[in-house]
Amino acid sequence: MSRKSWKLAVLPGDGIGPEVVNAALLVLQDCANAFGFGVETVELPFGGIAIDRVGQPCPPETRETCLKADAVLLGAVGGAKWDSVPLNQRPEAGLLGLRNALGVYANIRPIRLSEALRPLSPLRLGPNTVVNFEIIRELLGDLYFGKHSNEGSGADESASDVATYSVPEIERITRVAFERARRRSRKIASVDKANVLATSTLWRKTVNRMGQDAPDLTIEHLYVDNASMQIILRPDQFDVVLTSNMFGDILSDEGSALVGSIGMVPSLSAGDGPPLVEPIHGTAPQLVGKDVANPSGTILCVSMLLRDRFGLPEPAAIIERAIDDVLAEGIRTPDVAAPGTTTVSGSKFTSHVRARIQKLVEKAKPQSA
Ligand code: NAD
Ligand code: IPM
Ligand code: MN
Repeated sequence: MSRKSWKLAVLPGDGIGPEVVNAALLVLQDCANAFGFGVETVELPFGGIAIDRVGQPCPPETRETCLKADAVLLGAVGGAKWDSVPLNQRPEAGLLGLRNALGVYANIRPIRLSEALRPLSPLRLGPNTVVNFEIIRELLGDLYFGKHSNEGSGADESASDVATYSVPEIERITRVAFERARRRSRKIASVDKANVLATSTLWRKTVNRMGQDAPDLTIEHLYVDNASMQIILRPDQFDVVLTSNMFGDILSDEGSALVGSIGMVPSLSAGDGPPLVEPIHGTAPQLVGKDVANPSGTILCVSMLLRDRFGLPEPAAIIERAIDDVLAEGIRTPDVAAPGTTTVSGSKFTSHVRARIQKLVEKAKPQSA
């Protein structure tokens, strides 16, 4: 369903968050102008910067505004400045709280290799090896949302993190994986650690039960240790990877290495309310203030939002194509530069992508217009 105007809550966050979000907003506005839809943005404090300003990472006004928006765009949060803050008050805890408040239980992370970056993948990929899979990461359960506790002190100190999954939690994320697989090759790899963990045993049993009612899908199960190896050995065997919160976090950074850089990967988190889009990378403290961060992942968040939520596949495809074209011309930020070649700044890269979008829009216009 497409609509005239969208309300977007914008949370730039910390570190490189603001610069990559700025790039994504410029591209979104270009698409809005070219395709005749409106975007009303409201920027809100979130993460470390919100701790500094108002003493908490996810202030109530930020949360309320996000809940009323059509979608939320987030950069990244966290940094050394807040690393000594207690766990439950850190920028990262604010992010978990926001995901929970929005009810976004399904985090979709596409791992797609842009053809131009094939030589940069650390794997010796044959010319026909396809790296194009989607990680469907459960986002509201597991170790992340169980009780974290410390007891005792000194040599007697101990700590524990509780992992929990219920049948309905596994069922709802499995349904999302089934839907996504039906739009792709109908093949799902469910990743767990069912040889050790109770949560994973329930996970596997539930996925298997649901699979019996989905004879059109091929479902296989892999233990996470093997899955992390298979992703490196034979990434082309994967199409939809369904997994839990913790394993999805780890496997998605691994997947990002295959496609050249973590700076290339977007994500969309979906639930019953407004979706949250965010790149999968963090605040990259070493890159802050240098204008070298790769904005592609965050720009591609706009494309996911347009296609999956705003019902606008055409500008979504143009954004993806523009990034591929600019990379193919050899215009690269340092993280994806071929050895010995010159690089451009993050903002210059964005300018090139915007110019390319303009050209593609012109080309797509009917001749008579
Ligand atoms: P990170 O993703 O920030 O950085 C990992 C590596 O990837 C670094 O070498 C970094 O320079 C590089 N990198 C990241 N984004 C890049 C980009 N756009 N272009 C080029 N290179 C890029 O992870 P980290 O160093 O483990 O964490 C730094 C901080 O970010 C921590 O406080 C962490 O908690 C936080 N974090 C936040 C999010 C989030 O808000 N969604 C995600 C991950 C980490
Ligand atoms: C991610 C990040 C977050 C996560 C952190 C910052 C809470 O690593 O989005 O991948 O683990 O979910
Ligand atoms: Mn992560």
